[in-house]
Amino acid sequence: MWLYVITILIGYWTLKWFLERLKVGNYGEKYVLVTGCDSGFGHLLAKRLDGLGFHVIAACLKQDAAAELKKKSSERLQTLQLNVTSEDDIKTALTKVKSILPPNKGLWAVVNNAGVGGGFGTVECLNRKDYTDIMDVNLFGVIDVTKTFLPLVRKERGRIVNMASVSGRLSVTFTPYCIAKYGVEAFSDSLRREIYHQGIKVSILEPGCFKTNILNPTMIKDIYHRTFQQADADCQQYYGEEFIKECINNLIRSSSSPGDINMVIDAYEHAITARYPKYRYIVGNDANYIHRFLWTVPEWLSDFILCYNAPRPAGIK
Ligand SMILES: *[C@@H]1O[C@H](CO)[C@@H](O)[C@H](O)[C@H]1NC(C)=O
Repeated sequence: MWLYVITILIGYWTLKWFLERLKVGNYGEKYVLVTGCDSGFGHLLAKRLDGLGFHVIAACLKQDAAAELKKKSSERLQTLQLNVTSEDDIKTALTKVKSILPPNKGLWAVVNNAGVGGGFGTVECLNRKDYTDIMDVNLFGVIDVTKTFLPLVRKERGRIVNMASVSGRLSVTFTPYCIAKYGVEAFSDSLRREIYHQGIKVSILEPGCFKTNILNPTMIKDIYHRTFQQADADCQQYYGEEFIKECINNLIRSSSSPGDINMVIDAYEHAITARYPKYRYIVGNDANYIHRFLWTVPEWLSDFILCYNAPRPAGIK
């Protein structure tokens, strides 16, 4: 009996191992659009794909970042300026991409990588704009870019690859950011099922903590203090300065051992080059062993673990 079970398991793992390593090939004939190539994951991914021989169209928010990337890449790589919150920019980008693509050619992949960090503060301190600023880029940017370029992806029966986060599965602190990432997860799941028969694949990346500009300690401090200052006097008194300081320290401490950024680029590469890409890529040890554990166990346990050492407001001390 056990022999059968073990044989089946080994067979399953071997087949999985094998299928996961199959590649689509022909990279030199494939065009990939990546957003947010100014820095971080997007910048590295553009260079990685360029090195593999893809025709990379790297969208950057800033002109100088685009010029910098162009200098470091092959002649094939093209850049364009794109602020994903601007309808005009997205329209202009579509025209530019169409002019880059050879006749009757579409996009093999659209990588919705562009994102911003922020939204640090307690729910009572945050205002509506703190939410919309983040959602505009991290959620509505993804939706608008996907919608605009989907017909070009359909031409190649290609892929949409969306950057979410473990914050799209486990919501704790920086609420606006988590809401946007939960939104990206929901959008990607809906889209994948909606286009099930169109031959287009949708993958979601869920990285844990990695060293990019999203978790810059100075930015964390500035935003926490700014949102605290905008709360009314009663609220400020209830929470107290000490509470905010502890929140900042906790967040900086919890993001102080980031993973190797190449793990994220490897996951992106797999989603774009594998014959059978995964639906979800949970990237990093923290994501796989801590966050995944916490979003799987019952809430009484995850809440206890997450809140046991959490700062207490001055009003309940
Ligand atoms: C991006 O576009 C939005 C909307 O058009 C604008 O409000 C914002 O300032 C732009 N951001 C940058 C960094 O240019």
